[in-house]
Amino acid sequence: MYSRRPKQVAAGRTEVQRMILLPLLVLLAGCGAGEAPRGSLPAGQDRPLLLLVTPGSVVDVDAVAHVSVKAAGADSTITLSPGSHGLAVAGRRVTGTFAGVGAVRVSVASRDSDGVLKTIQFNIVAPAPEPGRPVLPDRPFTYDDLQLDLPPSYRESRQSGAPYWDTTPETNPVSDAGATLGRVLFYDKRLSSTNTHSCGTCHQQKHGFAEPRSFSVGATGEPTRRNAMGLANVRYSLRDRFFADARVRTLESLALIPIQDHVEMANTLPNMVAKLQATDFYPPLFQAAFGSAQISADRVGMALAQFLRSLISYRAKADTAYPEGGDSRFPEATPGFTAQENEGLKLLIDGNCLHCHVDRVLTMVDPANTGLDVESVDPGQGDGTFRAASLRNIRHTAPYMHDGRFQSLREVIDHYDTGIKPAQSLSPLLRVRNGDAPRRLNLTERQKRALEAALDTFTDSAMLEDPKFSDPFH
Ligand code: HEC
Ligand code: HEC
Repeated sequence: MYSRRPKQVAAGRTEVQRMILLPLLVLLAGCGAGEAPRGSLPAGQDRPLLLLVTPGSVVDVDAVAHVSVKAAGADSTITLSPGSHGLAVAGRRVTGTFAGVGAVRVSVASRDSDGVLKTIQFNIVAPAPEPGRPVLPDRPFTYDDLQLDLPPSYRESRQSGAPYWDTTPETNPVSDAGATLGRVLFYDKRLSSTNTHSCGTCHQQKHGFAEPRSFSVGATGEPTRRNAMGLANVRYSLRDRFFADARVRTLESLALIPIQDHVEMANTLPNMVAKLQATDFYPPLFQAAFGSAQISADRVGMALAQFLRSLISYRAKADTAYPEGGDSRFPEATPGFTAQENEGLKLLIDGNCLHCHVDRVLTMVDPANTGLDVESVDPGQGDGTFRAASLRNIRHTAPYMHDGRFQSLREVIDHYDTGIKPAQSLSPLLRVRNGDAPRRLNLTERQKRALEAALDTFTDSAMLEDPKFSDPFH
């Protein structure tokens, strides 16, 4: 069953392929972007923003020339990310012996001919050996939602977008083969330049596809700016907007962002495609998913989006509290719940919680300011407004909020109870009725416990343990 390709062979083949493919791809990209000869490319746009070296090798690069011929000036400032693997800046060069494996982020700040300060970044990377091959079931798992035992309201959303704002585009429905490919990509560390990070490094199944610490550590060893949120029900988004500040549209385009982020996966799309092409298992997976073995960044984005959209939560205890066929906006007290859970459900409704964390999918329609700070350091979508991911599996996605400031659900409840700050753009739903002041719930200990019990009914253990969402490389 488990056939791991010998590592040396894997690395050897890829190395050769990369040497042939990369310059080709880079040249092609350069040509496509305006037939400019290589020496006069505009500000770093079409240059390879990635420099691959062997661990332990001597590095000596002209950083300014690497990012931009035009911007080469005496006033360029070059900085390296902390944990510089033995590299240092000497004038406009980055030099040293690359210690270990990893990525160093190089920032080159220069003034262009108009005097405008521009910062261009690239990564110097000594990759770890590539991972082995994934182990996949003989018959693919079922991801196609039309074949799943979904509640009717979920099913209707796929057909008509309502009631839960399903973002699945007609051009990229979830198929078993497409999501299978997406699953492999999601867990493949090859997607990072360093071979150290996959999506699953920061989005962990047992933690509801969130990160169990406030900030994740990316390929350069630097922390991410925000907490990695859970991914359950990510497909349900009224405005098709994602991230805590709702800055990105469509999961297809989002999926390619962490790959190219200079901190997270520190890769370029051409390098990623070349690595996937050099394996023996990706061409058949692309063939099955898209009808041809061609590997492109667009297809990677599409397959990842399919896997993300397959992360549907509908098997939690709370699901039994939503009567089918009716208006499933709010859960209803149900005999299947304990008295404590039912009390908690009522508190969730009375506390306006489910006006923002809405409907059975428990995602959020519009970003809001929850009064975490009077003045938010991180503006989010503006004035300290943020978007939360679905409250599904919330017990397991700690720490909480965009900056992971709360370690436990109790801390979150205490915030909504008595901790809301008088921020300028605090949501009216969190202010006292007919007034400006932040609302105080003044919950008793018993009520706080009931709220926690109700939030626990959002845990979807079937999802957290489903092998079709697990890491196929282990
Ligand atoms: C180094 C850690 C890291 C890696 C690797 C990573 N992510 Fe994330 N992810 C984050 C962080 C942090 C956020 C929150 C960013 C924000 O809100 O600005 C996030 C947010 C997301 C979201 C938004 C969810 C929502 O509700 O808006 C999706 C979807 C996502 N990541 C998918 C992926 C995919 C797909 C990959 C792999 C290609 C990936 N991530 C790799 C850290 C990571
Ligand atoms: C005005 C809209 C609004 C109301 C009302 C509201 N929330 Fe939230 N909630 C948010 C936003 C926005 C976030 C994300 C804030 C951030 O990331 O900084 C959030 C975050 C959370 C989180 C953490 C999510 C995560 O993944 O980190 C939990 C848990 C939560 N809310 C529970 C509740 C409960 C319980 C109530 C009722 C007592 C409630 N919310 C009321 C808007 C609201």
